[in-house]
Amino acid sequence: MFEEGDRELEIRALELNAHVVTDLLCLVAEDEVGDYPWPSPLVKQLMAAQEFSGKLGETASCVYLAEELQRPVRVVAAGLGKTEELTTEKVRRAFGAGLKEADRLKIEVLTTMPWTNGGLTPGEAARAVTEAYLLATYRFNRYLSEKKECSVRFLQVRYDPAQEVEVLPALKLGQTLGEATNLARDLVNEPANVLTPERLAQEAQKAGEKYGFAVEVFAGEALAQLGMEAFLAVGKASVNSPRLIVMRHLGDPANPDRVLGLVGKGMTFDSGGLSLKQAKGMETMKFDMAGAAAVIGAMGALAREEVPLNVVAVVAACENLVSGTGYRPGDIIGTMAGKTVLVESTDAEGRLTLADAVHYIISREKASVVVDVATLTGAVIVALGHLTTGVLTNDQDLYARLQEAAHKSGERVWQLPSFPEYREQNKTPYADLRNVGGREAGTITAGLFIAEFVQDKPWLHLDIAGTAFAEKDGDYLTQGATGVGVRLLYHFAETYL
Ligand code: BES
Ligand code: MN
Ligand code: ZN
Repeated sequence: MFEEGDRELEIRALELNAHVVTDLLCLVAEDEVGDYPWPSPLVKQLMAAQEFSGKLGETASCVYLAEELQRPVRVVAAGLGKTEELTTEKVRRAFGAGLKEADRLKIEVLTTMPWTNGGLTPGEAARAVTEAYLLATYRFNRYLSEKKECSVRFLQVRYDPAQEVEVLPALKLGQTLGEATNLARDLVNEPANVLTPERLAQEAQKAGEKYGFAVEVFAGEALAQLGMEAFLAVGKASVNSPRLIVMRHLGDPANPDRVLGLVGKGMTFDSGGLSLKQAKGMETMKFDMAGAAAVIGAMGALAREEVPLNVVAVVAACENLVSGTGYRPGDIIGTMAGKTVLVESTDAEGRLTLADAVHYIISREKASVVVDVATLTGAVIVALGHLTTGVLTNDQDLYARLQEAAHKSGERVWQLPSFPEYREQNKTPYADLRNVGGREAGTITAGLFIAEFVQDKPWLHLDIAGTAFAEKDGDYLTQGATGVGVRLLYHFAETYL
């Protein structure tokens, strides 16, 4: 599964003074249109004739005869907006827009020049371009008899040789992050009949081999021994049995007590169980393992880049189905931590699996910081729509780090309050906790349910139910799974360097 196919996407760095022999994609800021070093005065005139002004998202294209080549060359221009307001995200968006134009023109080989007149470092611009290229050419194609690909299959990035030490590692990082994000997208797009918990574990193992992190999988009796009663209760109805997937990248062996723990929700399908979801939209619930995909992708990137940190990721993978062996509303179940839970809805299954996974990563993997990522609540879509990941935390320093990571990755996050009074909603007279906090503040009470299991550890909770999947093509993310969280988690880990 997920082989690259016959398609070749190549990124090749090219020195500034090298001869450009391909079609061009020029990223142009609003304030530099007039004196942009267009490849020919004719191109400048042609762009002016189209009133290309460099506004963000604007594109224009022309063909001119390149004297030195004696053949026509196509030039696509994509606007970046104002130089002083430039961000890496705007570079990605502009590149995505330019790439759509190049695709329309059926261009196969493209050269671009990511540098700008300021606002960003050459490295930031180079990374953003590479990421955008890989993310914007991604298609989930494998079940189509007739593949629809982006025409562009080769990208050359020109750079100033004086900036080589900065640009080359940035291009490599952009490639790593783009690939790792696309791996997560593949996993999320894969339907649940194919991507069972067992298969997800196999894919994690494959990713471990490819990127260089260690993977351990618990199943059957070994899994039962761990005492993850809540996790196992959720998976009981399905013949596709649960897997606990543990991934380790121990990049800082000198500090074994500093371990970043990542936990991803890995529901390969969420029917709701006996608290059955309505039929309309249920097909989207194959995406309920997007948190797992995010941590697998992030582990891949961290390992590939050999980041000198200890990072462990845990996925409690299972399938929430309906059958005579399933758990029921009204059941009172145990957890690995020892707390009991009244199941008020079998559809609030994510927090049950996460409670055990979080307890496991702290007690067995000695995580000193915990970040969980989950498609946890429909309520987060009501609150924040599809643009922004909802966040809860018990530590504002962690949130500040996350904001820095959000800025670098272009992912958007927003913190919701976690006042202790909200905890009351998770209480019941019949058990230590109940798994539903009522209709109000659903994202907050779901997060605070997990908080009951993080002990004294600094913790971040990312609810990606709104951001993991896009119905339509975006500026540079194509429709379907977004791979949200991969780049965010990578840059978050980086703040500990
Ligand atoms: N996987 C869903 C969350 C979800 C719902 C994501 C809709 C995207 C769209 C989760 O397991 C779930 O079903 N949550 C319930 C919780 C409720 C029963 C307390 C929800 O949000 O409705
Ligand atoms: Mn559910
Ligand atoms: Zn779910």
